[in-house]
Amino acid sequence: MDGRGLVRSVKAVGVVGAAQGVRAVRAAWRRRRTDAAGLPARGAERARVPGPVTGADPGPGGGVIHFERSELQVMVTAAGAVFWGWDGAGPEPSYALAGRCPEPDARAVLEPDKDGGWRVVAERVTVAVSRHGAVEVRTPGGVVLRRDLPPRWWEPLEGGGARWVQRSEVAADARFFGLGGRASGPRLRDGTYRLWNTDPGRAFGPAEDPLYITMPVQMVVADAGTHLAFHDSTWDGTVVLHEGEDGAGSGHDRAGSCELRMAGGPLRCWVVVGSPARVLHVWTLLTGAPAVPPAWALGHHHARWGFGSEQEVRRIVAGYKERGLPLDAVHLDIDHYDGHRVFTVDQERFPTLPALAEELRRDGIRLVSIVDPAVKAEPGNALYDAGTAADAFVRDASERPVLGVVWPGDAVYPDFTDPRVREWWGGLYEERLRQGFAGFWHDMNEPVSFAAFGEATLPRSARHALDGRGGDHREAHNVYGLCMARAGYEGLRALRPQERPFLFSRSGWVGMQRYGGTWSGDVATGWPGLRASLSLVLGLGLCGVPYSGPDVGGFDGSPSPELYLRWFQLAAYLPLFRTHAALRAGRREPWEFGAEVLEHARVALAERRRLLPYFVTLAHLARRTGAPYVRPLWWGAPEDRALRNCEDAFLLGDCLLVAPVLERGAERVAVRLPHGRWYDTVTEEAYEGPGQVLLEAPLSRIPVLARAGAVLPVRGDDGGLELEVWAPAPGRKGRGLVVADAGDGWEEPESERYTARWKRGRVVVEREGDAGRSEPSRPVRVRGLGPA
Ligand code: NOJ
Repeated sequence: MDGRGLVRSVKAVGVVGAAQGVRAVRAAWRRRRTDAAGLPARGAERARVPGPVTGADPGPGGGVIHFERSELQVMVTAAGAVFWGWDGAGPEPSYALAGRCPEPDARAVLEPDKDGGWRVVAERVTVAVSRHGAVEVRTPGGVVLRRDLPPRWWEPLEGGGARWVQRSEVAADARFFGLGGRASGPRLRDGTYRLWNTDPGRAFGPAEDPLYITMPVQMVVADAGTHLAFHDSTWDGTVVLHEGEDGAGSGHDRAGSCELRMAGGPLRCWVVVGSPARVLHVWTLLTGAPAVPPAWALGHHHARWGFGSEQEVRRIVAGYKERGLPLDAVHLDIDHYDGHRVFTVDQERFPTLPALAEELRRDGIRLVSIVDPAVKAEPGNALYDAGTAADAFVRDASERPVLGVVWPGDAVYPDFTDPRVREWWGGLYEERLRQGFAGFWHDMNEPVSFAAFGEATLPRSARHALDGRGGDHREAHNVYGLCMARAGYEGLRALRPQERPFLFSRSGWVGMQRYGGTWSGDVATGWPGLRASLSLVLGLGLCGVPYSGPDVGGFDGSPSPELYLRWFQLAAYLPLFRTHAALRAGRREPWEFGAEVLEHARVALAERRRLLPYFVTLAHLARRTGAPYVRPLWWGAPEDRALRNCEDAFLLGDCLLVAPVLERGAERVAVRLPHGRWYDTVTEEAYEGPGQVLLEAPLSRIPVLARAGAVLPVRGDDGGLELEVWAPAPGRKGRGLVVADAGDGWEEPESERYTARWKRGRVVVEREGDAGRSEPSRPVRVRGLGPA
């Protein structure tokens, strides 16, 4: 038994009793036996490389280049994304793509390159393939952004899928970001990162890897340009990153490198080049537009594992109300289930849930339900019986349902990679809607089976439908959460066609933004956990998943009042703003940390509510353009090396720069400003970027700066939408976009475009329309005009 296994079984024992710990031991043995029988040893293997080039045939968007022992398809899409696949791998089927593979670029041409190689030339990118199969991505000006060396495969002599390795080189000055949700980022330093969605089984800090959402998606930012590379295989893998070293004129440059080792799956890759904004735009054209949460989900959420009863929920809600603190959603964790059985309600402790939901809704508060995938394996449990009759559960190689252990004890797992099962499961949300729930929180869907040793998930030999192709858990594991999200999302759309579903999921994979967002999982209470929670939000945003946020205060233990407050202040500027904690952790209500913290938390809550129209606009922008709400400081200036190394401040949309306090006792933060003028939103003091500034960060607030010229939609005192305009720098103009959407339906809200400019010593704000400029019909408040 390894240390982690012990921790896990202890956790299981601690939370649900000794029987669970014993089951966890049994489950681990069962998993081992199942794999021993279901996954015969690979035996001897043969290594292969492509060998020398033998010819090439043009095809749509590029063509196929033949090598002695392989072939490579290269295709550029009309939007400028590059695809290449070895050994006959095409873009489909893929769990990442939002639909069919996009149309090829009819103008891209395949032509001979120097030294016997070939190249595909398109408007925005050139892909050069050497005669031994190295693939170079170059800018139209010929600068190399990435060089993938010829791959190497290892094939079992007895037949079966190959494992493979792909080494790549990037510029000496390049920085890596992404790979899904990583606690140690956002800049991914030298190290090994695993691609296998994992519940660490304990509250985690920055050193924990992997976590719940892993993705073979790298965003690489260098002086020469930005690119995103995605190796579309769902199998287990590792990525070893080495940042390069710039000789700075006095030594040799050492290129950055990345080595990707995958246990299987096709060797195929998508690359998108351009500015960060363009990269994310094309990326979400490929993998799907981020779902827009209903407006209420952009407010404040309060969750708790262990609310215990309806009275307790009412007590907490009353606590917010009495103190005049805004609250938009309350989340019920597994303790509201009957015996931890999903899609049930403990009627003793929650006897009138629909009435409670209605009562809360009248106060503008929505109820959100946790949904776990594992179904208690117990004849007589209606869900188990129905799932068994529908043949919905994952089986092992000898056709027996796979048994795991989760909160309700022995449990079986729906096979969400089966469209039939997704439809069945999606229909089950009807019960949740009847209970009055308005949103859904998918948990434990890596998926988890408590194990006393080894990995706490399903056996690798477990069989999955894989949407008609058939396969095992080695291929299905990483997309289990993604497919569960799809089941929930599509079910909710069918059940409530008029409403945008609100769903967020602990695990997922490339494309999960189509169905909703995520949260940072069980982040450890402590200053390192606070930093990790920002890293996760930034990294996921760069992988196309813009909606996420941490458990304010951390998941376990009891934060100090200062730590709680700093976490609260950070999360007020993140898309998901939620307090939550473990069963036996300390309280997380803002009034539990003393009068001073309460007053400062009140300010953060009020500011979040005031910024709600801005968050709504950012949500729509994310859907339309792929740009995450929360962006690294280098977003608009990727060529600025100093900004690439800044990890503790971020941009919230185009207008705001947020500099959270991530260290104990700090009452000042040093921030590197991107180019332009920035105003402290409280003091209105102006700062000029680029450059480093030291900002006051008293306990009462974290510094938030507004970009000069920003036109920001905010909620006025009367609840109406107002424009907060930050004076442009002299001689410059400003602009802003407003998407005014207060609802939770599908109608496309109108966009309002504004400009701000100086005219005869005054800042004039105008709305841009088809018929020219007009006076804004909304109240305007100009700020940053200097001392009155
Ligand atoms: C694990 C989740 O990460 C956590 O948020 C939740 O409270 C527990 N499961 C119990 O459901």
